[in-house]
Amino acid sequence: MFGKRPVSQPGGGSKGFGQSGDTPAAPKPAAPRAKPGSGDTGVTTKSRPVEAATMRSGGGSNAPSEPAASVAPAAPAGGKKQMAAAKPRKAGATETVGAERSAEYYAVKTTIFNALIDTIDLSQLARLDNDTARDEIRDIVTEIISIKNVAMSIAEQEQLLQDICNDVLGYGPLEPLLARDDIADIMVNGAGDVFIEVAGRVKKTNIKFRDNGQLMNICQRIVSQVGRRVDESSPICDARLADGSRVNVIATPLSLDGPTLTIRKFKKDKLKLSNLVDFGSISPEGARILEIIGASRCNVLISGGTGSGKTTLLNCLTGFIGEEERIITCEDAAELQLQQPHVVRLETRPPNLEGTGQVTMRDLVKNCLRMRPERIIVGEVRGPEAFDLLQAMNTGHDGSMGTLHANSPREALSRIESMITMGGYNLPTKTIREMISGSIDVVIQAARMRDGSRKITHISEVLGMEGDVIITQDLFLYEMTGENADGDIIGKHVSTGIARPAFWDRARYFGLEGQLADALEAAEG
Ligand SMILES: Nc1ncnc2c1ncn2[C@@H]1O[C@H](COP(=O)(O)OP(=O)(O)OP(=O)(O)O)[C@@H](O)[C@H]1O
Ligand SMILES: [Mg+2]
Repeated sequence: MFGKRPVSQPGGGSKGFGQSGDTPAAPKPAAPRAKPGSGDTGVTTKSRPVEAATMRSGGGSNAPSEPAASVAPAAPAGGKKQMAAAKPRKAGATETVGAERSAEYYAVKTTIFNALIDTIDLSQLARLDNDTARDEIRDIVTEIISIKNVAMSIAEQEQLLQDICNDVLGYGPLEPLLARDDIADIMVNGAGDVFIEVAGRVKKTNIKFRDNGQLMNICQRIVSQVGRRVDESSPICDARLADGSRVNVIATPLSLDGPTLTIRKFKKDKLKLSNLVDFGSISPEGARILEIIGASRCNVLISGGTGSGKTTLLNCLTGFIGEEERIITCEDAAELQLQQPHVVRLETRPPNLEGTGQVTMRDLVKNCLRMRPERIIVGEVRGPEAFDLLQAMNTGHDGSMGTLHANSPREALSRIESMITMGGYNLPTKTIREMISGSIDVVIQAARMRDGSRKITHISEVLGMEGDVIITQDLFLYEMTGENADGDIIGKHVSTGIARPAFWDRARYFGLEGQLADALEAAEG
């Protein structure tokens, strides 16, 4: 009923929602519209609330034609000048995880470890439960230490026991990192270099693997848990840890300096919208608007760079979906945690060793349509499934959502267009754009700023088409004003002064227009 139809109704008027025409146009005088194709300037001020998406095909009307792909990546709103002046950051100090270990310690550990491996029967050990196995190893290692007459303090001995247990039973030196919930990413670049991301900043750690062989064994152990294999003949592998953390391994010879392992740690306590407000990622009014967007079944695209918080934001938005709705999620590695009672979770599958059996995101999204979904949530839109998602959005599954990698809302829309074009659909550009503008209501842009903080930099809505160009309108922007002595970014979220967004009628249908009006008014301050 609320499926958006392709319309050519730019400006502040209502769109989608039955095109009733009974909605008063935006009461505020519309500011002059940016010239279509004028390039992405990271619009920041209220004086330019309406922005034209640079999606012009050749032979357009009043502006030189500009391929969508040439849009420069947007700086976060208001940040261009400051960004240009910023000096490269220096790498922070190495973070010490656990006690510092000397070369001598590693030598002793290798001796004891080898003696242990000679003594125990690993297949027997594998049959024991974790605690019993740890006790067993503890007894044997203590015996080896006394036989070999190694001089060690109690604390050193405890450390050694811990490390050896981790090596034999767990993921070795990664264990202390995996145990921490404040780490967002673990990045292992060969045996000697382990980096972590904490509070948005990447730091080197003192953690080291014995050699690339040990690292490769651990990678192998991780991926074998999900029935996959990584070696020289198939050196790229995605996997998941038991706790849900997302893992990627790329081994030699593709990775030149040893196996490279990247882990996106699964956060046990998922961030909620209120946490994002506390972190300053969005203002309370902006959060309120996002809540209304989620609850009033807008079709949403969440755009952002890598690690910018797209999945987190998607997870937050799904929190406002009604309990009675049937939701189907499609992901490459299940990360979303929906709280509703009626959720079907689907996951793609890579090809097996014979190269068969692959199930792509497109297969899943297409199949979803036969599963009576009310909302379809796609973890990450990367390819031709964009077409099926738009179709779903357009055919009664409104309130569907997805994330994609792009640096601005405008770029997000042109990326969707390229995904569809590259997917081999033989459709005229204008048709694809009409489909995009007819399906997507709101684009939310997330960004990881250079101080490590994550911000929601744009809440923009898609208004329709003007000629060949998709018209978007920013409702909310993050305006960067500078940075403090510690290098932290200073700025604020500002409303662009749009008093009646295009999804007003949807909000009214769901009884939320009063709250929307309040939030917009409060946002104007
Ligand atoms: N607003 C925020 N403030 C602080 N930390 C955040 C915020 N949003 C997300 N994070 C943290 O940043 C990390 C990356 O978040 P997330 O997985 O949502 O990013 P993503 O954009 O989906 O990444 P990818 O492109 O790799 O899929 C997570 O550890 C998450 O907890
Ligand atoms: Mg993600």
